[in-house]
Amino acid sequence: MKQIALVMVGFGNVGQAFARLLLRKEQTLADQFGLRIVVTGIITGRHGGAINSGGINLTRALETIELGQSLDILSEQPVPTNVTDFIFSSSADAMLETSPVNHHTGQPAIDHIKAALNKGMHAITANKGPVVHAFAELNKMAAMRGKRFMYESTVMDGAPIFSLFRGPLPAADLLGFSGILNSCTNFILGLQEKGMTLDEAIIEGQKIGITETDPSADIDGWDAAIKVAALCTVLMGIPLKPQQVDRTGIREITPDMIKKAQKAGERWKLVCTARRDGQRLLEASVKPARVAPGSPLYSIEGTSSYVEFKLDVLPGLGIVEGNPGPDTTAYGMLADLINTQRGQ
Ligand SMILES: NC(=O)c1ccc[n+]([C@@H]2O[C@H](COP(=O)([O-])OP(=O)(O)OC[C@H]3O[C@@H](n4cnc5c(N)ncnc54)[C@H](OP(=O)(O)O)[C@@H]3O)[C@@H](O)[C@H]2O)c1
Repeated sequence: MKQIALVMVGFGNVGQAFARLLLRKEQTLADQFGLRIVVTGIITGRHGGAINSGGINLTRALETIELGQSLDILSEQPVPTNVTDFIFSSSADAMLETSPVNHHTGQPAIDHIKAALNKGMHAITANKGPVVHAFAELNKMAAMRGKRFMYESTVMDGAPIFSLFRGPLPAADLLGFSGILNSCTNFILGLQEKGMTLDEAIIEGQKIGITETDPSADIDGWDAAIKVAALCTVLMGIPLKPQQVDRTGIREITPDMIKKAQKAGERWKLVCTARRDGQRLLEASVKPARVAPGSPLYSIEGTSSYVEFKLDVLPGLGIVEGNPGPDTTAYGMLADLINTQRGQ
């Protein structure tokens, strides 16, 4: 049995879902991959941290957070408050990064990933910031150290998007894509179709944890734009920042516009699109658009997402992810971790 020591930066929705998934998949990981994954360190923003070289008891860590207590009580030694110092003081094979995204700079997640790679760890993130703001640099750093920089969960959560292009689609050229990549706005537009105002729909989304306290990153299209930038950067090899995406959110969609679309048998969707001609990007946009029943986007409900890739070898390859959440995001990260071990 191979033991993999893991440190976790961030223990919020995704971090906790990952801990639950590890507990659930312990036997599968052992039986199918000969792996035993031991979390030796956890650090958070405001909920302390823990270091235990023998392995942190994840059930207790989850209970501690549930009770609103600091993880410090689980630590066998004082935990540095600075994340970089924490990573340098940890001895682990991989680091899991789930700190909140900064759409404009990618920090501090970029520094966390650099610290992990410098310490000789694989770096796995669900945070889109490092992918669009430091992709080439982080990949180069990883390659020089014989480690991997992995980011499957950054777009469409646990659905295999990036690994699809690494594995089953060799020598395929991605010419463009379109889809619905932001769950929150799709959910809100659905509620608006049922007669809610934007503000009422936002409150509803907040009640069930889909919409953040500050919903502007979703409503104004930043989350969708950073995903478009990530797909262009990684899959097309055209580096793009979210600020360079032609972006319009859903704020200006009025109840009247929704009704008119419904009368015409259509629906408003926040559509992400990119098209290229060689190394020239013809379009990278996030825009509300009316879609007709013939479009695959029409039937994407609630928090589900969809992307259709146009490849030189496959003119239309679509992937639907039904109602994702932190559990699916956690799965994408576990898949990344397994792939670091089997070289995929
Ligand atoms: N939720 C999803 O399903 C989903 C899907 C795809 C991608 N993502 C991405 O995954 C990441 C995590 O999402 P989440 O929903 O788990 O967020 P979250 O619930 O807000 O959790 C964030 C975690 O990071 C910690 N943190 C905050 N600032 C930090 C810092 N400077 N250094 C280290 N840790 C810090 C927080 O600690 P405190 O709570 O103590 O402050 C918390 O433990 C985000 O980048 C998000 O965009 C999430």
